[in-house]
Parts: sequence; structure tokens; C-alpha cells
Amino acid sequence: MAQLWGGRFTKETDALVYAFNASLRFDRRLFRQDVLGSKAHVKMLAKQGILTEEEKDAILLGLDQILREVEDGTLKIEGEYEDIHSFVEACLTERIGEPGKKLHTGRSRNDQVALDMRLYIRDEIDQTAQLLKELLTVICGIMETHLTTCMPGFTHLQKAQPVTVAHHFGAYFEMFKRDRERLMSIRSRMNICPLGSGALAGTTYPLDREYTASLLGFDGASENSMDGVSDRDYVLEFLNSLAITMMHLSRLSEEIIIWNSNEYRFIELDDTFATGSSIMPQKKNPDIAELIRGKTGRVFGAAQSLLVTMKGLPLAYNKDMQEDKEMTFDAIDTAKGCISLMTGMLSSSSFNAERMEASAMNGFANATDAADYLVRKGVPFRDAHGIIGRLVLTCIEKSCRMDDLPLEEYRAVCPRFDEDIYDAISLKSCVERRKTKGAPGAMAEAVERAKTYLAGL
Ligand code: ARG
Repeated sequence: MAQLWGGRFTKETDALVYAFNASLRFDRRLFRQDVLGSKAHVKMLAKQGILTEEEKDAILLGLDQILREVEDGTLKIEGEYEDIHSFVEACLTERIGEPGKKLHTGRSRNDQVALDMRLYIRDEIDQTAQLLKELLTVICGIMETHLTTCMPGFTHLQKAQPVTVAHHFGAYFEMFKRDRERLMSIRSRMNICPLGSGALAGTTYPLDREYTASLLGFDGASENSMDGVSDRDYVLEFLNSLAITMMHLSRLSEEIIIWNSNEYRFIELDDTFATGSSIMPQKKNPDIAELIRGKTGRVFGAAQSLLVTMKGLPLAYNKDMQEDKEMTFDAIDTAKGCISLMTGMLSSSSFNAERMEASAMNGFANATDAADYLVRKGVPFRDAHGIIGRLVLTCIEKSCRMDDLPLEEYRAVCPRFDEDIYDAISLKSCVERRKTKGAPGAMAEAVERAKTYLAGL
């Protein structure tokens, strides 16, 4: 067992304890960050005269060699090392001897893990933001293609008022855009370097923390060393942000599942993004949408789980915090995978415009427009609502649509109706008349704004 702290102990660690305590199995993911952090630390130590130039050069050469060996597969991250920090230090000393033992000057593993995790989360924020940009681009394309394709808009999953596919997807554009912006705001808040916090109380060496921070692309060094080593707020913010994105993906998945049902047939999933049944030959199942909906719980769970892990921890570092990693890694993999799959599923799907429009024509989605028509003729809205309600009832009894009801039937209820009622309640005018910002008739401008937003990313 290669441990960094044998001196004070007279007995070997119990094997079970060793296995329970060790984190290499999962924190091996932080390898690159650990090496980068060490390189910056060593450069700073040399600049401050704490290490000689020769020692610094030897360490940097050794670290780069380890980086290469791991990347080309000649060095495997495995063996009896407690964690990734012990692994890197042991490999370094094995390769360069004495100077390797000086790498840990003015630094603690609490410091290191705080730094590595922050560097890792920062990378993952950037990658997730890129994936969201790709999803937004596909959604914007759907909006543009289906600017005038009508579909029913729903409340309570009951047909409410006609909208367009562009309008419906425009809503998701806004959600995923906020998700991306939320990530950027977390990034700017978390881009602070904890390295130099020591175990909790800083160090007695004259470290230049701002220099290390700038080498690693941070905006500055953290203000308080106890906070530096024990803050996991940014992980929580990221997990909660991913949870919100998963909630959005799950809602969209739910709609895709409904639209793909035999009853709706609004969407046609591409064969590459659907699955079949082993027994029922006719099936084309939306498994990917269902899995995205299903995996949402894992990400919610990770966010909740880390909150619970952190809630009882006195300052500063406690080993409980090692539990932040596995669930965070899983949540990140899950969310990134789901965003990519949603992008692929949407870009390969097609929409059945005829079915959608036919559906929007049925179910009295134009009833509000008929009431608005009467208002334009001087009838108070509340009376108009009652009149149209009665006409809807007549249509239900006659099994017809409002568009098919003869003018005499309209006039029998209210003499203000004229021939122009049919144009007023046509699907096209229901949509086009709604021109206020954000409404279905104003989506051409919304698409332009969406494109400008994407071009600026
Ligand atoms: N493996 C630990 C973690 O993930 C980091 C090392 C700090 N360990 C310690 N015993 N102080 O949190």
C-alpha cells in the first residue's frame, strides 16, 4: 500500500479499511487536473524561491512524462494507491527521485482535491454548455422550418388554443437557453482558485496564490482558506443546474412520447432513434425519450444526495466530502449523454404537419377566437364567452366543428355574427392574429433573435 502518511503509524492499515477509504477507483478521473495543478504549484514555488529552478524543471519534466504515459496507455492508473494525488506523487518520485518529494511543499491533499474538482467541474460546465448550444441550434432549425405549421396548444393536456410548432419549440429554446446561461453564471462564480489553502489554515511558505490562480485560468485566489478546502457549493450549483436541464429534457421527452403514440402521430422518430419489440412486430418505441425521462431521477438524486452529505459537516475538510465524486461524475455523464441524445433524436425526427393541423382544427381550439370576434363586434367578453359556450354545446350535439356550423345557427344565438366569423376562426387567423411578443404569430422575430443569440455564442 503506497500511502503518504505512514510515519506516525506502527501497524499496517486493515485491508477492509484501506479499500473502504481509498478513492483511486473513481478519482482517477481527476488525473489530468491533478497534474495540471501540480505543474502550476511547482512553477509558483520556484518563482518564490521555495524550489530551485533545477528542481522545478525536473518535476515538470517528470509530470509531463507521467501525463504522456497515461495518455498513450503505457501507465495505467491502478495499483495500491490511496487516491489520484498519491498516485501522481508516487509515480513522480519513482521517475525523478529526490525532487519529486518536494512537490508537496506548501500544499495539502485537501488543497489538491478542492483544486482538481474545481478544474474538473469548470471543464464539464464548458462541455455541457457546448452540448446545449448544439441542442439549441437544432431547436432553432425546427422553429425556422415549422414557422407556420399549426398544432394544438394544450393546457391540462386538453386542446386549448392553436399554436405553431415554432411556438411550441420556441418555449424549449428559452428553457435550454436559460440552462446555458445558468451554467455560465455558475462558471463565473466558481472560477476562483483554492490552491494554497493548505490543509485548512494556509501555509507558512510565502506562496504567491494569485500567480498560481492565473496560471490555471482562474479569476483570482479564494479569500478564506477554510472555505477554500471545504466549499462544494459550486458542485451543488452545477448538479442543481443539471437537474433543471434534465427536468426540461424530461418534459420534452414526455411530449415526444405522447406525440409518437398511435393516437397522436404528430412526430415520426427516425429508425436510428427508435427501438422495436421482441414480440410485437408492429412496434416502434420511443425508448430513448423514455430513458431520458427515466434517467432524470439519477441527476435529481445526485443533487439531493450531495446536499445531505454536506449539511452536517463542521469546518473544514471532512472525509465525507470524498462522497461528492461518484454521484457527481454519474450525474454529469448522464446529463451530457441525455442532451446529446435529445439533439440527435430531434434532428433526425420529422413532424407530421397534416396530423397536427387536423388535430388543431378539432377540439374547439378556436373557441377563444370566436369569443374575441364578438368582442370586436361590441359584445362584452363575459357575454361572448357564454354565447360561444352555447355554440360549442350545439357543435358537440351535432358532432361538427365551429367552422362547419351554418351562419343561421350562429345568428340564432347572437345576431351580431356575420359571414366573416369563418375567417376569424380559421386556424390561420387564430395563429396569425396573435402577434404580441412571444405569441405564435410573432415567431419569425423570435427565430431571428434566437439565431442572433446562437451566432454570439
Ligand atoms: N480523496 C479525498 C477526497 O476525495 C481527498 C484527499 C484528502 N484526504 C484527506 N484525508 N485529508 O476528498
